[in-house]
Order: sequence, then C-alpha cells, then structure tokens
Amino acid sequence: MTKSIIFKTTHASQRSFDGGVFVAAILQSHNLNHQKIMEKISADVYKKIDNNLYNVNGDIWWKPDSVLHLLKTSVNPWRVGYANSIIKRLGIDPQGKTALEVGSGGGILTEEVCKMGFTTTGIEPSEESVQTAANHAKTSGLDIRYEKGTGENLPYPDKSFDFVFCCDVLEHVQDLPKVISEISRVLKPGGVFIYDTLNRTLISKLVAIKIWQEWKRWAFMPPNLHVWEMFIKPEEIKALLLKNGLEWKEHKGSEPNVSIPKMLGYLRKRVKGEWTYADLGKNFQLVESNDMNILYAGYCIKK
Ligand SMILES: C[S@@+](CC[C@H](N)C(=O)[O-])C[C@H]1O[C@@H](n2cnc3c(N)ncnc32)[C@H](O)[C@@H]1O
Repeated sequence: MTKSIIFKTTHASQRSFDGGVFVAAILQSHNLNHQKIMEKISADVYKKIDNNLYNVNGDIWWKPDSVLHLLKTSVNPWRVGYANSIIKRLGIDPQGKTALEVGSGGGILTEEVCKMGFTTTGIEPSEESVQTAANHAKTSGLDIRYEKGTGENLPYPDKSFDFVFCCDVLEHVQDLPKVISEISRVLKPGGVFIYDTLNRTLISKLVAIKIWQEWKRWAFMPPNLHVWEMFIKPEEIKALLLKNGLEWKEHKGSEPNVSIPKMLGYLRKRVKGEWTYADLGKNFQLVESNDMNILYAGYCIKK
C-alpha cells in the first residue's frame, strides 16, 4: 500500500509561498487555525522527498565539513540537552535501561544516547548509513547495536525498550501513523518516547524550505531534503500519540542562537565559500525557546 499522509486543511497555507508576502505570511502564521486530520500522505507528495541522499557510499555524517554533520554541531546541543533534561526530570538512571533510536542515520544522536548510559540500538533504512554508524561507534569504542530497517516495521518484540528516540526523522517517513504505532508497541509500559520534528507553518516554509534549502543566496541543505507538506503540526503528532496509548506530556520549541539577519549573513558566507560547514556549525546552533514555528521537541510516556 502506498504510504502517505493526507493533510486535510481548511486553510490556504498550502499555497506556494511568495517571498514578496514575507511579512504578511509571518503575521498570518501566528493565526493559522488548521483543522487537520492526519491520515496518509499522497504518493505524489512522498515522491518529492529525497531519502536516497543517505544511501551514499562512504561517510556523509562525521566529516566536520559536511552538511549532515550540522546535526552534531548545530542540532545536538539543543536536542541532547532536551533529552537529558527529561531524563533528569523523570528521575531515571539510564544505566541498565534499553534505548532504541529510530532512523539513526550515521549515529550522531545514537552515540549521545549510548554515552548517557543506555544499552543502545539504532535502526535505519540506509545500508550505507548503518555501515558508517557501526564503523564510527567501533572506532569510538562505543557498544551500539545497529540494524537496517524502517520505523514502519520495527523488528522487535512488544515492550522491548525503556526509551525510544526519533529525532529529525518523523518528517521523512512514509507512514507516520504506522511509525508511531510501532514505537508505542516496542515501548515498555512506563517507557519514554522523545522526539523532535519540523512544524508545518508558513514560517517553517520560509526558513526551513526557502532559505535553508531552495533560495541559492543562502541555501545550505541539499534540494528535497525536506518537503514542507510532510512537516507535522504539534497537535497532529499529539493526536497520533494519544491514539496509540502514549500519554503526551509536552512540546518545546527551538530557535537559532543568532538573529535572523545574522543567520542570513552566516549562510551567505558559506555560499560564497568564505565559511565551511564546520565554520557554520561552530557559530550557528539551535537553542531551546518557546517558538514552535520551526523545530520542536516533545516527549510522552507509554501507558
Ligand atoms: C535527517 S536524518 C536524521 C538521522 C538521525 N536521526 C540524526 O538525527 O542524526 C533522517 C534519517 O531518517 C531516515 N529515514 C527515512 N525514512 C525512514 C523510515 N521510514 N524509518 C526510519 N528512518 C527513516 C533516513 O534514512 C535518515 O537517516
């Protein structure tokens, strides 16, 4: 069956974005009142995302001057900090507990999960990425089990894990309702699911799609890395979690550590060749904020 999600919307937010209406769009995005029911994405939408870009031979994750390494330098500080704060708040000691990362890529988050003390597994559809992750863990002396597979079909028995992490992946998957149902299935009662993903707002269309990915003046992400229609609104994921026996607890936003004009300046330096991705990663990071318009994180507990 074709995996996809159909976003039924009563609003005009799926119109193509025009840079000329930037200010109006930003103002409007604060007032969007979508009534969406998350079902399937159409095959037409899913075919737009380039999930093949992870299937490249060789290491595309750990070289400091590579776009995916920004997950370590620019995104990890925020999402790992968030995960640590939840673990601390819940009073959980990771030692002796099991954790699964769904969509583990090259292991950039998985290694942090392992360092927290969890007995760690990563599952990832890209064979090449699994290989890179396994090689890197080995050279880092980390004992992580990596496997090839998708979030839609987790090859683990019910109630196998104390924690599941799925970060920067949910907006890439073919069948989000199935992935959430699988994550719920493999979590033990009382187990914790920590995630982050991209919100579907006009601001995320402007920043994450237009500026980061499409407009050549600033873009640093490969074309079709993300598809805006696959982004997920907080209330949509919350509804899916509740439907699958996961007690939703909270959402937290993020924002760049610098102003938007400064961010544009940094991105421009990279485009002009004055800065590498490594320079970008040193200067540009996400930090926790109340702003949920672009990337947000959350957690829930298996009932
Ligand atoms: C942006 S990367 C994030 C990797 C890793 N979670 C991290 O943050 O370092 C997105 C990952 O999602 C994976 N992915 C795509 N479709 C998936 C699916 N159906 N199930 C699990 N992972 C998937 C991709 O192969 C890729 O490794």
